[in-house]
Amino acid sequence: MNHQEGKHLLSIRALDRQELIAILDRAQYWADQQHSEDSPLQGRFAANLFFEPSTRTRFSFETAQKKLGLHVLNFSADASSVTKGETLYDTLKTIESMGVEAAVVRQKEEGILQPMAEKLNLRLINAGEGTLEHPTQFLLDTLTIRQERGSLQDLKVAIIGDIRHSRVVGSHLWGLPKLGAEVLLSGPPEMMPESHEAMQQEQVNVVPIDEAMQQADIVMMLRIQLERHQSDLYDSAETYHQQYGLTLQRAKQMKPEAKIMHPGPFNRGVEIAEELVEAEQSLIFKQVANGVHVRMAVMERAIGGMGTWQPYSKTVNV
Ligand code: CP
Repeated sequence: MNHQEGKHLLSIRALDRQELIAILDRAQYWADQQHSEDSPLQGRFAANLFFEPSTRTRFSFETAQKKLGLHVLNFSADASSVTKGETLYDTLKTIESMGVEAAVVRQKEEGILQPMAEKLNLRLINAGEGTLEHPTQFLLDTLTIRQERGSLQDLKVAIIGDIRHSRVVGSHLWGLPKLGAEVLLSGPPEMMPESHEAMQQEQVNVVPIDEAMQQADIVMMLRIQLERHQSDLYDSAETYHQQYGLTLQRAKQMKPEAKIMHPGPFNRGVEIAEELVEAEQSLIFKQVANGVHVRMAVMERAIGGMGTWQPYSKTVNV
């Protein structure tokens, strides 16, 4: 295997700038291809195990895997032996014994993937681990920003909303400073983390929402993660929208070249005005498209294919 291959992807925290750029460069290579080329991954096996709901991540991993010629096994927890008490580790060990080389896992328990990865031969890819991290979301977001702006160096990325419960933020807090960007966090006080190690970095600042709107090059809105809240925090969606949402009025405060992003799923009229989801300054559906490109690069990094990796002439600095 090439030295770039055979790697788990468990967190952005664990990756250095050089490795992040290598994955983004390869994802950009896939973004520029008109057709999938013959892949050395043809006929090999990968599995997707989602214990929490997903549309974007699950389907874009499957699309990416199929574009690379992999055989894809989609695991359904409800119809599996997990219902008989089998653990995630034993499930992974079982599919590894069948010849599955990589497993994409989304699940809510935090801190269990790393110790399992150390005991498994198959490659583990984190598709969302509780509120900890969502590494491929970070990669597709930064690929999208890089396509727009050429580089993340010195950009201000505002992340607004339910910061405390967002695993997307978990990855961005570690990754954006590595790529030279500053992070502005904003949201209701009850949705801000009590403490987060990554918030100690000087490139991370908590600011009022209107300051975030005015300063940001990228305005990234987050959904309220109701499934992780104990009780309703707002009387109505409209109350939240007016206080912390990207309203049409707030969007007018944005810099002319600033862009809107959202990892999805989005709730129109709650954290973002209905009209702004598909507005000219919105990158939301470009993010989704880039999800496939990033996940192709991540699958190659996990189980091979980067042997065909050509030096990429259009590579730009991050
Ligand atoms: N952004 C994201 O993870 O979306 P899904 O939950 O639909 O996968």
